[in-house]
Amino acid sequence: MKIAVAGLGTVGAGTVKVLQDNADLLSSRSGRSIQVTAVSARDKSRDRGVPLDGYAFFEDAVEMAAKADADVVVELIGGENGVAKDVVEAAIKSGKHVVTANKALVAHHGTALANAAEQAGVTLNYEAAVAGGIPVIKSLREGLAGNKLSSVYGILNGTCNYILSRMRNEGLDFAEVLDDAQRLGFAEADPSFDIDGVDAAHKLAILASVAFGRNVDFGSVYIEGIRQVSQLDIQFAEELGYRIKLLGIAAETDHGIEQRVHPCMVPDSAPIASVEDVFNAVVAEGDQVGTLMLEGRGAGAGPTASAVVGDLVDIARGISLPTFGIPVGDLRAAEPASMDRHFGAYYIRLTVIDEPGLVADVAAVLRDNDVSMESILQHGRDPGEQVSLVMTLHETEELRMVSVVDAIADLKGVVERPVMIRIEDF
Ligand SMILES: NC(=O)c1ccc[n+]([C@@H]2O[C@H](COP(=O)([O-])OP(=O)(O)OC[C@H]3O[C@@H](n4cnc5c(N)ncnc54)[C@H](OP(=O)(O)O)[C@@H]3O)[C@@H](O)[C@H]2O)c1
Repeated sequence: MKIAVAGLGTVGAGTVKVLQDNADLLSSRSGRSIQVTAVSARDKSRDRGVPLDGYAFFEDAVEMAAKADADVVVELIGGENGVAKDVVEAAIKSGKHVVTANKALVAHHGTALANAAEQAGVTLNYEAAVAGGIPVIKSLREGLAGNKLSSVYGILNGTCNYILSRMRNEGLDFAEVLDDAQRLGFAEADPSFDIDGVDAAHKLAILASVAFGRNVDFGSVYIEGIRQVSQLDIQFAEELGYRIKLLGIAAETDHGIEQRVHPCMVPDSAPIASVEDVFNAVVAEGDQVGTLMLEGRGAGAGPTASAVVGDLVDIARGISLPTFGIPVGDLRAAEPASMDRHFGAYYIRLTVIDEPGLVADVAAVLRDNDVSMESILQHGRDPGEQVSLVMTLHETEELRMVSVVDAIADLKGVVERPVMIRIEDF
């Protein structure tokens, strides 16, 4: 099986290396040899750390996708539009299978690309696009095919998990850890895609499509990143028996499909709470299997290439599955659930001037919105000084919580808008 690789960066060079280093193993597992025939990158002269002699080099990746002597094009350039999309479309048009690690592309154009692949009779695989080395697409499409899934959620961004882990373990503030993470290469120079939750949202939209047989609907994902997570909230979480994680959660509810990415408090005892540093984890809830968690490395040359090469071996073996688990024509409309209807428990932290009567005023706001309190915490009590007042609230609708936060923010003695973090009781 002949392969053309578009993009020779971290993942592209890593993939070529695995194909070279494990060539014998791969050919015995696939029943045929897997050979790179062509590659493309912007800079032909750059040392990629792997020998590229004998491969045709294309300056133009789209031309390579259309014309190279290849059965499969591997797209490892990145980006939701532009050259990556042109490469995938040209490959499909010329009857070549496609493997990609590009979550942005699949999240934005997945349904249309799957349709094009199906029409052309080629396979479109994208295991590496979600949670890097964790074979989660394979698990959902194949191993869990006997289940009706009610939810799929996880830690889908290693950079955020690394930052939150260090904030908790070392008592550092967000900005300090981010600086350090950038210096150490765990965060990009422009980290916004990661820390603002967009990268996790791309992956979540793909997971939701496979789990629930729906069109990919990135536009409906509710997204909050981790910039606002403070050391204070991490410490209160700890005291309450929780850890703060950035989760992507997709669930089938009575109001439609909920897709949300935001910081969550999860109980210390939940398996996902102990997934630390750059590790990713995905949990699926199936009607037959129950709860299942997969954990592993979500990024880096080796783990991501592992997923890309797994996809290639499937194609070499003649395994071709519908892109999102069922034929494109059978994918249902997305039916997004409004975040206002989200039903869950909440943590709120108020910064207040401690004065008599304030707690009674807060209790009145809760009563007026039909929200009930589970616990209340306050440290230090110097009358007239600013203190944090923390509450956990029983399950209620998000819309009510927004009214609660608005009303509390207006109370005399409350000095800034309350912080609200959703609690997930896994
Ligand atoms: N890095 C990870 O750990 C990871 C994990 C999961 C998924 N992914 C996904 O994998 C993809 C690749 O990521 P990466 O980290 O390997 O990126 P990267 O290191 O920035 O590599 C991108 C490659 O694309 C090449 N390229 C850019 N524009 C091109 C063009 N117009 N024509 C031909 N080649 C072009 C670059 O060429 P030059 O080298 O000559 O500039 C470079 O080799 C992305 O979709 C990313 O989201 C990455």
